[in-house]
Amino acid sequence: MWLSCGCASKYVVSFSRRVFKSYFHVLGRWRCNVPAFMPEAAGFEGVCGHSALQEFSVSNSASFWAAAARQRLNWISPFHTTQDCDLSRGEIKWFEGGKLNVSVNCLDRHVHTCPERVALIWERDEPGSEVKITYRQLLEMTCRLGNMLRRRGVRKGDCVTIYMPPCPLAVASMLACARIGAAHNVVFAGFSAEALAERIRDGETVTVITVNQGVRGGKVTELKKAVDTALQSCPTVQQVFVAMRTENPVAMTARDIVMEEEMQKEDLVCEPAAMDSEDVLFLLYTSGSTGKPKGLVHTQAGYLLYAALTHKYVFNYSDGDVFGCVADIGWITGHSYSVYGPLANGGTTVLFESTPIYPDPGRYWEMVQRLKINQFYGAPTALRLLLKYGDQWVHKYDRSTLKTLGSVGEPINTEAWEWYHRVVGDGRCPVVDTWWQTETGGICITPRPSEPDAEIVPGMAMRPFFGIEPVLMDTEVFCVCVLLTSNDTSGALCIAQPWPGMARTIHNDHQRFTETYCQPYPGYFFTGDGAYRSKEGYYQITGRLDDVINVSGHRIGTAEIEDVVNQYSAVAESAIIGYPHNIKGQGVYAFVVLKKGVNAQEEELSRQLNNMVSKKIAKYACPDFIQFVHRLPKTRSGKIMRRVLRKVVEQDLNGLGDLSTLDDPAAVEEIIQGHRELC
Ligand code: WT7
Repeated sequence: MWLSCGCASKYVVSFSRRVFKSYFHVLGRWRCNVPAFMPEAAGFEGVCGHSALQEFSVSNSASFWAAAARQRLNWISPFHTTQDCDLSRGEIKWFEGGKLNVSVNCLDRHVHTCPERVALIWERDEPGSEVKITYRQLLEMTCRLGNMLRRRGVRKGDCVTIYMPPCPLAVASMLACARIGAAHNVVFAGFSAEALAERIRDGETVTVITVNQGVRGGKVTELKKAVDTALQSCPTVQQVFVAMRTENPVAMTARDIVMEEEMQKEDLVCEPAAMDSEDVLFLLYTSGSTGKPKGLVHTQAGYLLYAALTHKYVFNYSDGDVFGCVADIGWITGHSYSVYGPLANGGTTVLFESTPIYPDPGRYWEMVQRLKINQFYGAPTALRLLLKYGDQWVHKYDRSTLKTLGSVGEPINTEAWEWYHRVVGDGRCPVVDTWWQTETGGICITPRPSEPDAEIVPGMAMRPFFGIEPVLMDTEVFCVCVLLTSNDTSGALCIAQPWPGMARTIHNDHQRFTETYCQPYPGYFFTGDGAYRSKEGYYQITGRLDDVINVSGHRIGTAEIEDVVNQYSAVAESAIIGYPHNIKGQGVYAFVVLKKGVNAQEEELSRQLNNMVSKKIAKYACPDFIQFVHRLPKTRSGKIMRRVLRKVVEQDLNGLGDLSTLDDPAAVEEIIQGHRELC
């Protein structure tokens, strides 16, 4: 089906083998840029230049990905069908018939060739206290944990929730699940007990893995206590493994097991399960435009291949490099670029436990110097924060090992981009602004790979990765796909054909999956983002088209926050709006209508509402501003006019637009007035 959906120009180029070789030569400077599997694949001969190669990978998706999968993954038995996909129904299958084990691909095959290579550098909260784990050690930890889980009844297909900060045992737990065929469900350790409980229940988990306490920015967080609270509303959980991150004892109940003690009893060898390509590898919850977070499902072979390939080619990663992704493992960035991508490539990857400003704003760069990091991958929100502290924090440290600088999670503004490039990278390192999502599994639009000296425009994600075919759709026309084929145009960002890394479904809710991603533009994957395609054909992400906002690189649905605020007894209704924030990217602005007759003090109410959001979701979701109003601007049919609220908080009163459908125009006046007083 997807082959027939009208896409931007597709063609197969066929130049001579000689020209193809010269492409290899030219790209030698951006090492590893040409996929090593290319020459083996029929039809690849003579594809010349990055854009031709990219076009080739899109036009010949099956042969491109089949060659990649054979060359880059170790298979227990080979696949017989490269792809069997129907985007319109959200039925996506890659590498059917193939059997493999993800943990074998991430560990055993490297242990055979280089057992003493460092797999993980655990950059603990206190600078200088890092711990290095070799591939041999990581395999041993993983096997012990795999045996432990099996002995305690975890079976193929079960779901294990991992509530841990980045640390080797967390990675080994993920890999142990993969080894025995269980799905993992990593929950960001910054999420509250209630958010954790919701994810445990929705994921139908019986086993939880956690730590006694977390340590971040010099502060201790009570993670085990949060699990205890969460489990009060999760009766199905039977066992909790508790790893000891600190020496402080915590209260243990009958279902709790000290993980390290239990591991010691286990054998160092654990038979890997032979998994089908399309068996579930993990669930990962993310926010959508309705209140309930969705558990996106990623499967084995396609996800791993896509994570590995993007890790290698987007960042120009080569053997011996130290890869420093500072994202938490609780997000997809941590999954794909702290764990699966680097380990599949036999790389050395950093697990960052701390914050960008602990103990001071030089932390990242001191770490780059000490660990000799070659690729640094972080979020614009941290860069915006650090640049305010001044260049001296960067200059203090030697950053000559850096080769590529990556940015992820939100738009990077020109000032932060320039600072990253000029100050952090001394103008030597390409900055790769990487656009992707939990749903896409790996990076989809990014400046590299491309010819080594190819232009990179600050603030632009630029070019599609191999196999990715971005298209823009008219946002004014619904239910039919009106493709915008010209350049210098903006529209809804869709992807015209499936790729191996994409999510397969939403756990227990395939209908929501198809409604969200497949039905808005039938035959295309709808990303939820808007994008601009420049005259030159480069992409720039312009932001979400739905009610999802991005606070410090964390994705959160405004409806999720509204749900919490509306639960408060004094609140009649509320509307949450994202507004431009110079550090966080977007801040949270709440309009709250109180129930009639409520006579509470606004300051005290605001404090309580903030507490509730922090308790039910996480701290980052708390409103920066709470404005109490008598009514919200609504249409006559009762729909809140968010567009109007957005314009007020963006302080764009000229852009309020057509107010004629408003039920009560006085509501807008009150809001403008109140906003002025508050800000
Ligand atoms: C949303 C996905 C990407 C992994 C981490 C976040 C926004 C992501 C960029 C970028 C502009 C970006 C989009 C996207 N986003 N990367 N380079 N430029 N916006 O994954 O939590 O699933 O969030 O983050 O709006 O849809 P996520």
